[in-house]
Amino acid sequence: MRILFFGDVVGEPGRKAVRILTSKWRVEYQVDLVVANGENSAGGLGINRKAVEELLDAGVDVITTGNHAFHWKEWEEVYRDYPMVLFPANYPGMLERSYYIKDGVAVVSLQGRVFMDCIDNPFPAIDRVLEELSAARWRIVDFHAEATSEKLAMAYYLDGRVDAVLGTHTHVQTADERVFPQGTLYITDVGMTGPIENSILGMDKDTVIPTFITNRPMRFRIASGPVLVNAVLVDIDRDRSITRINYVWAEG
Ligand SMILES: [Fe+2]
Ligand SMILES: [Fe+2]
Repeated sequence: MRILFFGDVVGEPGRKAVRILTSKWRVEYQVDLVVANGENSAGGLGINRKAVEELLDAGVDVITTGNHAFHWKEWEEVYRDYPMVLFPANYPGMLERSYYIKDGVAVVSLQGRVFMDCIDNPFPAIDRVLEELSAARWRIVDFHAEATSEKLAMAYYLDGRVDAVLGTHTHVQTADERVFPQGTLYITDVGMTGPIENSILGMDKDTVIPTFITNRPMRFRIASGPVLVNAVLVDIDRDRSITRINYVWAEG
């Protein structure tokens, strides 16, 4: 079982890159299942029906989210109509919508809480989710978190109990992918799938820098140009491996 997992997909440029590359890489890398973090897929913040439809149409099987999932009111429609779009298990009331099983693989959305929203503790939350997943052959957790310490703690906590703990949220890929002692595959952050030029985490730098200077909230605009595609390929059969993808896709 080989899974392709895209880091946070940012807006239309990110969705476009996912569409082109998913069909290509599915064949090239013999991918069985495609997962993408979609928390920034609609306009750079949040998720809506259009973004979900496009990602599913691109060949994405499961969409995870994170702290921006609820940015658009439309998240309620997404929640209602798309069971393969997941919401972090430790947001109040979201446990039942935090996992999805396809082809024997359970994908779980979970979120950290260090330097983030003050939500429920992700450690007991993932214990409760795993109780629901006895029918699944494999288990993959998207741990959407800011603090590297919390991510490593989660990886050790889940080592041997899940097949992979893949970090998301920071939009910056880390080079620490590895196999944990009990076989769990891990990376602190997969990175982002979004515009890279003149960009701060996918957003136009000129719309972001003023926030740091003035301390006032600004309306961010998605950057344009080449798209940095950060992803991982995880093999979770007997031969276990995690391989980073760090690719720049440009139109034309
Ligand atoms: Fe994000
Ligand atoms: Fe996030």
